[in-house]
Amino acid sequence: MQGTNMQVTAHVYAMHIDDGATAHPGGSNNYFVGEPSEEMVLIDTGDRQRTWTEAILDFYHGLGRPKIGAVLITHGHHDHVNGNGRAVELTGAKVAAHRKAEFTVDRFLKHGDTLRVGEITVGVLHTPGHARDAICLQADGHIFTGDTLFVGECGRTDLPGSDPRAMHRSLFEVLAEVPDSAVVWPGHDYGPRPSSTMGDERRENYVLAPRSLEEFVAFMAEP
Ligand SMILES: [Fe+2]
Repeated sequence: MQGTNMQVTAHVYAMHIDDGATAHPGGSNNYFVGEPSEEMVLIDTGDRQRTWTEAILDFYHGLGRPKIGAVLITHGHHDHVNGNGRAVELTGAKVAAHRKAEFTVDRFLKHGDTLRVGEITVGVLHTPGHARDAICLQADGHIFTGDTLFVGECGRTDLPGSDPRAMHRSLFEVLAEVPDSAVVWPGHDYGPRPSSTMGDERRENYVLAPRSLEEFVAFMAEP
């Protein structure tokens, strides 16, 4: 297990955890967002390995055990939700996820919802394509993209619940409202750097090159 934790802005604390598991080479990312002295949210809770969740909780303790207003889940894949139970047990937070989620959820979210977290507002964008319940979360000039958009890539669309047509709409229509200045924080470090901006991704990410729906579906079907 290797973990890298850092505060990247006044309101974003990013964690990169790599346990060497083959299911997610390069590890996964989790984020605490908000002001530790007021209220924060935790984005995703990691994989089934207990040590993974413990690393998140160590970081939580390092932040001074802030009030966690919600555990926000970008989508229901195992490497994003399997620490939910432990995270709820220790923080007392409620789990919030899109209403198409198929795991235990306290508060269902839909596109356009906003959550107040201390001084900041978290906005919900429903971005299906990688998963039916996939959401991106906008907060304080940042966007947490889960497995919808990576630095230099996008999430797979060949899994159960995936839909390349939905992904095309999510990437080219739903995310179109996100400004170029938004800092992108993905669910995994699959690119040359841990974060990016929407503007850089629009310029550099080959997945976001203009493609018609049919061109995109054919592109995503390529090995
Ligand atoms: Fe995923």
